[in-house]
Amino acid sequence: MLDLAQAIAHHILVFSLFGVLFAELMLVQPGVGLATIARVGRIDLMYGALAGLIIVVGFSRAVFAAKGWLYYSHNLFFWLKVGTFLVIGLLSVPPTIAYIRWRRSGAAPADAQVAGVRRWLWAETLLFALLPAFAAAMARGYGEFPVR
Ligand code: HEM
Repeated sequence: MLDLAQAIAHHILVFSLFGVLFAELMLVQPGVGLATIARVGRIDLMYGALAGLIIVVGFSRAVFAAKGWLYYSHNLFFWLKVGTFLVIGLLSVPPTIAYIRWRRSGAAPADAQVAGVRRWLWAETLLFALLPAFAAAMARGYGEFPVR
């Protein structure tokens, strides 16, 4: 039952995070106004909270539910997934800083600034697309390396 509950929570959290990322990509467009930037700033706060919960639920699954820590700690795709998720987290920092700067400046960003932030958002999105593939391979035992 614990495994089922954590699996359900895990999926809801990762779909929600992807929803937040996609919303930012749709809202942060050339010509974006300050009212929309304020909205994106609020949405971006959820990004941080969701990412934190994904790590907690994900590691709790790896340690307490599913197949146990020995299985995941010796699985290449598990570490590729966690590593990719951390890189996505790092790539999300410059957009967050930009939203805060734009709001504080009280001036709508220039198109070149928006284009810069969209590059970070696209990099996050493309890396995110790898995660379900790593997850499916990990869950089916691909990438298992021996316990020394
Ligand atoms: C640090 C972050 C994460 C950890 C520690 C983690 C851990 C896990 C664990 C332990 C499982 C169970 C696999 C099994 O049934 O054997 C799982 C499944 C899964 N995870 Fe994550 N996860 C993390 C982040 C993510 C993210 C960001 C995504 C986004 C797409 C994701 C997508 C999935 C999917 C789709 C499954 C089901 C795999 C399947 O049964 O085919 N996970 N995850």
